[in-house]
Amino acid sequence: MQEKRKCRVCGCTDGDCRRCVEKTGVPCHWVEDDLCSACKTTVISFTSIKGGTGKTHIAILLAKCFAAAGKKVLLIDSDLNNSLSYFFLTEEMWERTKKLNIAKALSDEKNNLCDFAVPTSTEGVDLIASTPYLADLRTLNEKRLKRMIRTLYGNYDVCIIDCPPTYDNIVINAVNASDYTITPVLKDLFSYNAAEFFSRVLPRDIEDIKNWFVLINGYDKRFEESKSGRQNDFIKLYQEKELPLTPAETWLPWTSMIHLIVDYHKNLSCKKGVQNAVYNQDLYKAVCELAACFFDEELQIPEVF
Ligand SMILES: Nc1ncnc2c1ncn2[C@@H]1O[C@H](COP(=O)(O)OP(=O)(O)O)[C@@H](O)[C@H]1O
Ligand SMILES: [Mg+2]
Ligand SMILES: [Zn+2]
Ligand SMILES: [Zn+2]
Repeated sequence: MQEKRKCRVCGCTDGDCRRCVEKTGVPCHWVEDDLCSACKTTVISFTSIKGGTGKTHIAILLAKCFAAAGKKVLLIDSDLNNSLSYFFLTEEMWERTKKLNIAKALSDEKNNLCDFAVPTSTEGVDLIASTPYLADLRTLNEKRLKRMIRTLYGNYDVCIIDCPPTYDNIVINAVNASDYTITPVLKDLFSYNAAEFFSRVLPRDIEDIKNWFVLINGYDKRFEESKSGRQNDFIKLYQEKELPLTPAETWLPWTSMIHLIVDYHKNLSCKKGVQNAVYNQDLYKAVCELAACFFDEELQIPEVF
């Protein structure tokens, strides 16, 4: 008879998964012989060789959404530009990132990634900051982060990696470590070229590439019905070339409100009149639909996050 399996983190077994059901509302499944899905950290990376396609902004919105839904979130900023770290860190925490950052974390494979995370101004979100010293890790083995990601299991439900607009061993580390790799694209040819580039190099460089998706940023519902036009032409191009698009419900509208959220630290709401929040149903819905793609269970997302 097959021996009963047991999760090394929460201890749930084939016969008793009550704690997972309590935590997520659904029974877990086995992701490794001794690890249940409720304890595994879901790793999502945002990456594109083109800058300005929305990687960092979408990472911020998604992190806020997950945290509001009660998920414990770890952000990894791997862009020298530091934008994600700027958004989430208070001045006091910046001080600490001189010692606690992604280059220090990756410098020794025996490190526990959790030890390099600092709490952010958003409840439920911790962050491993970027640093200029990341540039010294050009020879880092491409699977180091993948091997180290296990240190997050049981501590974080989801880890979001914001990548720099390039393709190097740091980006390959992120993709190797990810369950999902998302490439946001604008409705322009340079974005398409960047996505097309990934469709060629990722299968070549990543052993067992799974769940790579192109996410349209700047979708305009008004052009949905028209037979031609730039938006439809681009969508058709992605479909014809079989570049995998995320579901249409997850495509983000282009809205200046995103600046109020990111630059002025306002929240996003699906209800009018919420204090300190911007009201944008389409953006709210797209972020919620995107967040839902990464979990089996139904997320309990509040009306404002
Ligand atoms: N959906 C959107 N609506 C409006 N502006 C957006 C949207 N997504 C991104 N932007 C703007 O595009 C710029 C680049 O976004 P950013 O997230 O920094 O891109 P990346 O991280 O890919 O370089 C920012 O100025 C941001 O405000
Ligand atoms: Mg960025
Ligand atoms: Zn478990
Ligand atoms: Zn379980």
